[in-house]
Order: sequence, then C-alpha cells, then structure tokens
Amino acid sequence: MQSRKTPMDFDLVTGAMEATGIKNVGQASIREIKKLIDNIEKATGERYVRMEMGIPGLPPMPVGVEAQVEALKKGVAAIYPDIQGIPELKPEIARFVKLFLNLDVDPEHCLPTVGSMMGGLACFMTLNRMYADREGTLFIDPGFPVQKLQCKILGQGYQTFDVYNHRGPKLREKLLSYLKTGKVSTIMYSNPNNPSWICFTDEELRIIGELATEYNVIVVEDLAYFGMDFRKDYSHPGKAPYQPSVAHYTDNYALLISSSKAFSYAGERIAMLVVSDKVWNMKAPDLKRFYSSDQVGNALVFGTIYALSSGTSHSAQYALTAILNAVNDGKLNFVEYVKEYGEKAKVMKKMFTDNGFQIVYDKDLGDPIADGFYFTVSYPGLSGDELLKEFMYYGVSAIALATTGSERTEGLRACTSLIQREQFPVLEQRLKQFHTDHPVAK
Ligand SMILES: Cc1ncc(COP(=O)(O)O)c(C=O)c1O
Repeated sequence: MQSRKTPMDFDLVTGAMEATGIKNVGQASIREIKKLIDNIEKATGERYVRMEMGIPGLPPMPVGVEAQVEALKKGVAAIYPDIQGIPELKPEIARFVKLFLNLDVDPEHCLPTVGSMMGGLACFMTLNRMYADREGTLFIDPGFPVQKLQCKILGQGYQTFDVYNHRGPKLREKLLSYLKTGKVSTIMYSNPNNPSWICFTDEELRIIGELATEYNVIVVEDLAYFGMDFRKDYSHPGKAPYQPSVAHYTDNYALLISSSKAFSYAGERIAMLVVSDKVWNMKAPDLKRFYSSDQVGNALVFGTIYALSSGTSHSAQYALTAILNAVNDGKLNFVEYVKEYGEKAKVMKKMFTDNGFQIVYDKDLGDPIADGFYFTVSYPGLSGDELLKEFMYYGVSAIALATTGSERTEGLRACTSLIQREQFPVLEQRLKQFHTDHPVAK
C-alpha cells in the first residue's frame, strides 16, 4: 500500500499489522486487536482512542475493595472457598435478584463464577448436554463473540441469527423456525445487547419465555449490562420498574449477572450465575454421560464448576458480598455510578455523525437507540473491514461487527468505557481528519 500522511505513522502501523500475522483486522478477535494496538502504541509512543474492548473506565466500587482487602488480611487467600459460594454471598445474590428483578430464587441456586465468562461456559457445558439428540445453543445475535468460541471449544453446535430485522412480534416466527427443529438446548442473548445496545421489550421477552417453556429449552440470559438501559431507572431496590428479564415469563432460565461492568469489578473476575428453581431441579438422564448425577444443579456444581475452577476467588466473594449488601440496602446506587457511559456515548455519537459516519443499529424498534456502553458506526463506501483498517492509521480502535454475528458487515462496534473525556478533542480531531481524507460522494 502507498505510504501517506496519517495521524499514526503510516509505515509503522503497516509494519505492525503485518508483524501480527493477522491477514484481515476485520476478522481479528477483541484480544488480538488489543495486542495489535498495544504494539503500535509502544512502537510510536502515541496513544490510540481505544474503543475495542469493554474495560470499565471507572474505579472499582470502593466498598468491594475494602471488604476484599479485609478478607485477605484475615487470611482467606490460604483457604479453598466452597465451590457453590461462601454462605454470606448466596443470600445477598438472592436478595439482589428479588430487589432488582422481582424474582424469587433459592439462595442455594445462586452461584459465584469466575466472571460471566465462566458462568456461560458452565451453562453450555451442563445445559447443552441434557439431551443427546439436541445440538446446542441458539444465539440471538449480534452477540459477544467469545461465547460462540466457548461452544466451539466444547465441540458443541450452535445456530445464530441477527435479530435486527426480527424485532417485536416477528421474533416469534423466527424463533419458531429454529425451535421446531428440536435441536436447540439453550437460547442465549445479552440484554442490553453487546454490541448493538438493542434492549428487548417485555413483549419480546414474553415471546422468548413462552417459546422456551413450550419447547423445553433453557434461556441463558446474559445481563452483563444490568440496569444500564438509562432510559428507565432500574436503580431502586424493591421498586418497579425492574430490570426486564425473560425470567418474568418462563421458569426455564439461568441468568448471568457480571460484576465487571455494573460494579466496575472486571479485574477480580467475579460474577453471579442464578439458576431458576425449576431448572436446578430438572432431571435429564443424558447428563449421566458426563456427570455422576442426572440432576442439573448437582451436575452444575459438583461436576462442571468443580472441574472448571473449583469455585471462585475467596476474597473476591467477600468483595461482591459487601457490594451487594450496600446495593440491596439502598446505600449504594450502582446505576448512578455507571451513568457516565451513557453520557459519554451521547457526545461521542455526535462526533461521529458530525463527521460523515452513520449509526448502524440506530433504532430500538421505533425509538432511537439508547446511549450506553456500546454504539455501532459505519462510513459510506467502506466495508467494516476497510473502515477498521483505516482506523488503525487514524489512531482509533474498535472491532468489526462481522465478528459478532451481525449481518451489518459495514459496521464497527465502539465502546464508550475506556476513553476519558480529556481524549474527546483528540477523537474529534482524528474523525475530522478522517472525514477530510475520505470525502463522501454527494
Ligand atoms: C455480553 C457480555 N457477556 C459477558 C461478558 C463477560 O463478563 P465477565 O467479565 O463477568 O466475564 C461481557 C464482557 O464484555 C459481555 O459484554
């Protein structure tokens, strides 16, 4: 490629991209992009506006840090925690689920996991093995790419579709086309959605829930961005409105509630896996192919979780207990704490659209898409792969929507969390230059 003047040294960036061995940055995983940008930043001494990875840009919840330090000082690092979670934590998770989702779950069925990454893996491992004649997960996409990687690594099949053209009542027809095959064990999606920030309505959640019950399928609902549809206030314990969930419409659910984004606790790798009482007690003889028990709860805890990690970091469980206790008691408003993401999204989206970019997933049914943790952009005349490659030269990073199961291959996902407000002028200036250098045909 012909060298030209770009905000990041053209030849250095080209060299760094070649050195990674990645043939097409548009196909690269989030972690590969992160590594590439780390390398370029090191080589050039210049900073990127980093929007590729959902690292929380806020400090961890202090109440968690204090409790964790305290636990470490008391010596918990030396002791194996119970694999099903410490006794103090489990009732706090159940209380959180009651207060913010208005659901009743036995505390025994509330488990800590090493991030929701492990929660998802544990669900795929266990729930997708309940019936030998089924194939695996149906992903309502776009989605978090690594969850499909988890299925692949487990040797499980999966199916996916992009939900954008199947919103509202149309979702029923689309879901039925997969469920009628009898091959689906679990349905998975994130809500709010990573990467598009679509938020399912109660009508849609009802459709998913009713069909899950009818077809005896379990919904693994990923609530990594719990409470973060800032158009509604889900922050008051025990008061409506509650975080929307499929669990209001079916008992066939397992919920993944990450601490990473909601409590800015990504580094300690702790999340909650909440399994409905019905699913916990389900019996499936085919589980015996892998586990000593045919009961889901037993297979999950004493098979899967035991074998995967033998539980979750002891001190991190004390951190989560303290955070949940403060949140449940109404002393800590965790939604208020993360609202900054939505406010940054608003400013950032305008910078993009002022410079010729378009928001790809722009509508949530009839309404404009909410401002949150992620947004999606495209640029006229460029594919997602081409745009991402160009961004490398302009000091801006993101990931291609094509890697998320999206049909909108012209788009990129941008994450609002890591960029600090001080970097806004740099982003604006780079986007302006991009626009000047890539004139849009009128
Ligand atoms: C939709 C979704 N699920 C799960 C995760 C991972 O959560 P955790 O950090 O708890 O493993 C993320 C992180 O970005 C995510 O976006």
